[in-house]
Amino acid sequence: MLVIKSVPELKQLLKPFRLAGKSIGFVPTMGYLHQGHLSLMRQAKADNDVAVASIFVNPLQFGANEDYSVYPRDLERDSSLAADAGIDVLFTPGVEDMYPNGFTNMLTFVDVRKVTERLCGAFRPGHFRGVATVVSKLFHIVEPQVAYFGQKDAQQVVVIKQMVADLNMNVKIVTMPIVRETDGLAMSSRNVYLTPEERQAALSLSRSLKLAETMLRDGCTDAGKIAHAIRAVIEKEPLAVIDYISVSHANTIEEQERIEAPTLIALAVRFGKTRLIDNMIWEGK
Ligand code: PAJ
Repeated sequence: MLVIKSVPELKQLLKPFRLAGKSIGFVPTMGYLHQGHLSLMRQAKADNDVAVASIFVNPLQFGANEDYSVYPRDLERDSSLAADAGIDVLFTPGVEDMYPNGFTNMLTFVDVRKVTERLCGAFRPGHFRGVATVVSKLFHIVEPQVAYFGQKDAQQVVVIKQMVADLNMNVKIVTMPIVRETDGLAMSSRNVYLTPEERQAALSLSRSLKLAETMLRDGCTDAGKIAHAIRAVIEKEPLAVIDYISVSHANTIEEQERIEAPTLIALAVRFGKTRLIDNMIWEGK
């Protein structure tokens, strides 16, 4: 596996592959890799001639009071995990490589409207503008045929797909299922922040989604009832502070009162300083 930090060097390296008609699969990440990231990387390798991954903690998508400076980083460990997952080229730019004039001086942004207004967009102003802008930059640098994203960040997938459609980007977006710990907790680089008590309480997220799934299987079509049942499970945990519980159309993120598949049930809950998200998609019976 080659590890490359410079944008021009990466472009130069990938050009001959593209000209030879090889397919490039791409996995953008912020590092501190876990099995969720690695499942995307393995798929990128399985589907393509060349698998490229990036590790870049993007300052543009963090709010002023968020965890940018303490976001976990371990490039040495990540490099060996990415190599084992089949990645051929690991792109590890610094902030100065991605934002040569400083990220606060950027003049051009990708701003996806509407699908960014609710859920995480409402609680993290500017977050999806930062995500769409950096992913657009990474797509222009790597020029992949296919890019892989996790269902874990459900709204992010909707935003990226909207951007790709609206801006005629030549990249296919593949979504991969949420990878969970054996006890149900969705894997996240942020899980390392949790104290043992918070981690135990955080199991209420996947537990509440399981309950929602049972209700849906049993024929419940009342979104309010489902949201209420989820809230009841999470509120049993004194350490949990709910940002949102949402029942919406999976493709438009428009709130649903009556369940009409595909439905996205999405949660964001804080435990101490750690904000966790989880979700499920109901495709109907
Ligand atoms: P990051 O949080 O590092 O996630 C990178 C990719 O891994 C995303 O597509 C995310 O959805 C996926 N992922 C994370 N946890 C997962 C899990 N438990 N199961 C399956 N997939 C999972 O998302 C970002 O980085 C950034 O916003 C980025 C797209 C790189 C732009 O900066």
